Amino acid sequence: MIYYDNSATTMPDASVMDTFMKAGIRFFANPSSLHSPGMEAERLIEKAREQIAQLMGVSADEIIFTSGGTESNNLAIKGVASFYRGRGRHIVTTMIEHPSVFEACRDLEKGGYSVTYVMPDENGLVRKEDIEQAITDETILVSVMHVNNETGAVQPVKEIGELLKKYPSVLFHVDDVQGFGKVPLDLQAAGVDLLSVSGHKLHGLNGTGFLFKRHGVHVAPLFSGGGQERGVRSGTENAAGIASLAKAIRLLQQSDPEKIRVLTEFIRGQLLKREWVVIHTPLQSAPHILHFSIPGIKGEVLVHALEKEEIIVSTTSACSSKQNKPSRILEAMNVSREHAASAIRISLSRYNIIKEATQFIDALDRIVPVLAKKRNERT
Ligand SMILES: Cc1ncc(COP(=O)(O)O)c(C=O)c1O
Repeated sequence: MIYYDNSATTMPDASVMDTFMKAGIRFFANPSSLHSPGMEAERLIEKAREQIAQLMGVSADEIIFTSGGTESNNLAIKGVASFYRGRGRHIVTTMIEHPSVFEACRDLEKGGYSVTYVMPDENGLVRKEDIEQAITDETILVSVMHVNNETGAVQPVKEIGELLKKYPSVLFHVDDVQGFGKVPLDLQAAGVDLLSVSGHKLHGLNGTGFLFKRHGVHVAPLFSGGGQERGVRSGTENAAGIASLAKAIRLLQQSDPEKIRVLTEFIRGQLLKREWVVIHTPLQSAPHILHFSIPGIKGEVLVHALEKEEIIVSTTSACSSKQNKPSRILEAMNVSREHAASAIRISLSRYNIIKEATQFIDALDRIVPVLAKKRNERT
């Protein structure tokens, strides 16, 4: 099987699974318990926190473990909105965010907040000037993703963070679920206050992740409960999941994401030679994502045809592909409905090899004329 759906979920690394299994058996006790098995589980969590913090160049107490990207995004956005509501009730975000940011903002609108959704340009890139223009005296938070999950476009997060330094009362949240470990981001230089990361996008496990929360920044907790994670995220900690997340992040240090880019760029180069392809991924993109359309052939039809060849790709993001709605992101980029309906996303990982890339192109060359012929016979 050729697995090209790594933006949806990556395959967990074998050693991550090993860490999870061993930690799950040995450190099963409740980390909040006073007895020594509980304290050992707590020590495991704190070791993982320190390792992750050290690799990121931040303090251990700036890491809050969560169940993944969706929770981290909700905690950052709703948590800031609630804590700082006395300061203002306006949030700036973009039209191209993941639903866990976009819908969290929609929820806040229902609760009396106002949100400005900044549009991207036709390459799917947000302009820092448009972010600045959207800021008002009431703005408490700007939330902009680092790497777009459908197109792979890398947003000018550093530039946005630099301009936000002029607005000390505005906090800056970055959804880095698709960028972490693949596109470098200097949190200090970019003045990032909150950053969301998910384990299953980096060969860790589903249900693991964290929110980086800079010292001095507050979020109101989403859950009421036992006050774990320094009162910010109640719920018995997933000690084995946390240890496996630290392992997955340590492994990132040993891999070079630019090797993935070589494969993605090879595929891009091959696709560009075919007149039936329209590419939506701009050059300013992450190494692992390529989004394109084959106009006239529905995205889901091509997904299934490729699956018969044991090639796993997706139409848009995993969450929106089942909803059968045109992608909000492509719409915001002014991509026509016809092109949006025929969009395909491939997303690679460090486990892909060049032979698969050539097999993928060969498969497209075989499949596309057959599907086009079938379509012509129907019309
Ligand atoms: C950009 C982005 N943010 C957030 C998420 C949600 O992360 P999780 O699946 O860990 O909840 C995803 C998942 O696809 C994503 O791509």
